[in-house]
Amino acid sequence: MADVDYKQLEERLGRQLLAQRLKIQTHHVARLFGNGKVWFHIEHIRTLHRIIRNTLKATGLYWRGHHNALAVRVNFQELFCADLPEAFDGYRLLHISDTHIDGNPELIDILTKLIEPLEYDLCVITGDFREGTFEDYETPTRRMVELRRHIKTATFAILGNHDAIEMVPMLEAGGIRLLLNEHVALENHGEKIWLAGVDDPHYYETDNLDKALENVPENGFKILLAHSPEICRKAAFASINLYLCGHTHAGQICLPGGRPLLTNSKCPRKCHSGQWSFEEMTGYTSRGAGTSSVAVRFNCPPEITVHTLRRT
Ligand SMILES: [Fe+2]
Repeated sequence: MADVDYKQLEERLGRQLLAQRLKIQTHHVARLFGNGKVWFHIEHIRTLHRIIRNTLKATGLYWRGHHNALAVRVNFQELFCADLPEAFDGYRLLHISDTHIDGNPELIDILTKLIEPLEYDLCVITGDFREGTFEDYETPTRRMVELRRHIKTATFAILGNHDAIEMVPMLEAGGIRLLLNEHVALENHGEKIWLAGVDDPHYYETDNLDKALENVPENGFKILLAHSPEICRKAAFASINLYLCGHTHAGQICLPGGRPLLTNSKCPRKCHSGQWSFEEMTGYTSRGAGTSSVAVRFNCPPEITVHTLRRT
C-alpha cells in the first residue's frame, strides 16, 4: 500500500476540506455498514443491484446491455470558445471520464486499443476511477496507472464521488497528476491558458473554485475540470471559459432517443450530456467510459472524447 502523506494533501486541498473529505469517507462507510436498522445498508444496495441484474437476465436484456456497455466509442468534438488564444486554436484534449475501471475487467484492453491510434495534445480525466465507493481502491488505481502507460501526453485528473483521497499518491506516482483545487498553466507557442481542477462537488462537496483559481489572471483563458456539472453556474460567474465534466453517465440506462431515467445530478437538464453552454461558458459532459452499479447501458453508448478547441 502506498504511503499517504496527509500533511501534503492538506496543503493542496485545504485543511478544512481534507478534514471534511476524510470525515465523510469514514461516515459513508459507517452508514453502509450500519447496524441493519437503516435502509441504506450495503447488503440492501447489493440486493437491489442483484434484483436489477437478475430481472434484466430473466428478460434476456442483460447481455445486450452488457455488450452495449463495452462498445465504447471515440467521440470527436469541436468546442468553440470565445477568448481562446490563437496558439490554442486546434489544440486537442483527450477527455476520459467515469471509467469505474474495476467494474468491467475487459474495459482496460478496450480503452487501450481505442486510445493507441489517437492524436491529441493533452489528456484530462474527470474522475470516478473506482466502481465502488468504499472498498479496495488499490485495484482501480493500479489499472488506471496501467492505462496511463498508453497515453502519450501529460495527463491531469480530478477525483470523483467514487474515489478516495488515498488514491492520489499512487495515481501521481503513475503519471496522473491530480488537481486538488489547483491549477496549472499550459503553454503553446508562447501563449498560455490555465487548467484548473476542483475536488468532487457532488458528494463530498470539497470543491473550492477560489483556491483552484488563486493567482490565475482574471482575463486568462480558463478550463475547469469538475467531476459533475453541478457547479456550472458558479463556474460561469467565475469567468471559466470551458467546463469539462462527467458523473451523469448521461443516464446510463435511457429510453429510446436517449432520455435518461436518472442522472443523479442537480443542474439544468441541458448539462446532463454532451456539449452545452451556460452564459458565456462552453461545457461538455461526458457520457463516461464505464458503468456504475450494474454493468449495462441502454440507448446511451459509452465514450471517450477528443475535443478540438476552436476560437470563435
Ligand atoms: Fe461515475
